[in-house]
Amino acid sequence: MTVMHSLHREPGRVSIDEATCKQCGQCAEICPADVLRLDGGRVRVDQRSPFGCIACGHCMMVCPEGSITVTGRGISPDDLRPLPPPESRATADQLAALMLARRSVRRFQDRDVAPEVLGRVVEMAASGPMGIPPWDVGCVVIRGRDQVQQLAAEVIRGYEQFLKVFRPWLLTLLRPFVRRATYEQFRHFIRPLAQTYVESRRRGRDVLFYDAPAVLLFHHSPYAEATDAAIACTCAMLAAESLGLGNTIIGGAPPILQRNKALCRRLGVPEGNTPSIALIAGYPATHFRRSVRRGFSHLNTVD
Ligand SMILES: Cc1cc2nc3c(=O)[nH]c(=O)nc-3n(C[C@H](O)[C@H](O)[C@H](O)COP(=O)(O)O)c2cc1C
Repeated sequence: MTVMHSLHREPGRVSIDEATCKQCGQCAEICPADVLRLDGGRVRVDQRSPFGCIACGHCMMVCPEGSITVTGRGISPDDLRPLPPPESRATADQLAALMLARRSVRRFQDRDVAPEVLGRVVEMAASGPMGIPPWDVGCVVIRGRDQVQQLAAEVIRGYEQFLKVFRPWLLTLLRPFVRRATYEQFRHFIRPLAQTYVESRRRGRDVLFYDAPAVLLFHHSPYAEATDAAIACTCAMLAAESLGLGNTIIGGAPPILQRNKALCRRLGVPEGNTPSIALIAGYPATHFRRSVRRGFSHLNTVD
């Protein structure tokens, strides 16, 4: 058995170099899948655990001797990287400052974002914890205002269709069959939002992607969850911020993209994957002078 993945159907393979292994057992201690076990003072590989090796690579990363090799499920020793030294890592104060200074940005300079900078955002985002490795989340990088506006036009066409179908009288008719919050969201948020998208576009204003020079669209496979894509997008947001890119998470485009298979194909979203969240990015044309305190709607502690 293995944890299902759109590209990988086999468990990972673990091999231990018996010549260098000192049987310290750190790999067995860290293995979350119970594939490595310390048995009579010796480390053993046992693929009979419920999912087999999930190829998280923790054993390879923790082994002091470098005696472990994990392959399969998209991982190999080539993926190992030196551990960033503690002094190069963001401190809590630095991270808090980044998060406090970050604001969603909806006005951008008339300047493209270099492919290498977007590549860095993607690379940093991919290090986020998206469920069980290997991540079953994809990212489409839409570069340049022309491409972004082409996509915006197609999404807005989808909203025009939506408005033709979901007329106020139909929503009233559906009212007894849907949850109150769903009805209220449709009536008081989604429909007015769709109208705003469509009318603004007619007036030459883009309130979907805000004329951003780049969009990152995150999609997930049927074996992953929208949360995984949201984590990728949140990490991309922080990465973009750290690289001086203004950005905003955009949930307005995916619901239409999800219903337009031809467009998804053109964007390179694999069949069966669901586009669930996007991030716009570009060099900001606005600068905030102060931050703001934000809090949770509810916060309780259970001791
Ligand atoms: C899931 C999700 C979807 C969002 N979709 C949009 C959107 O489509 N358009 C938009 O202008 N802001 C959208 N936002 C809001 C902004 O990304 C941002 O969170 C909000 O404006 C608060 O930003 P601030 O902390 O910078 O004030 C979305 C946020 C989330 C988390």
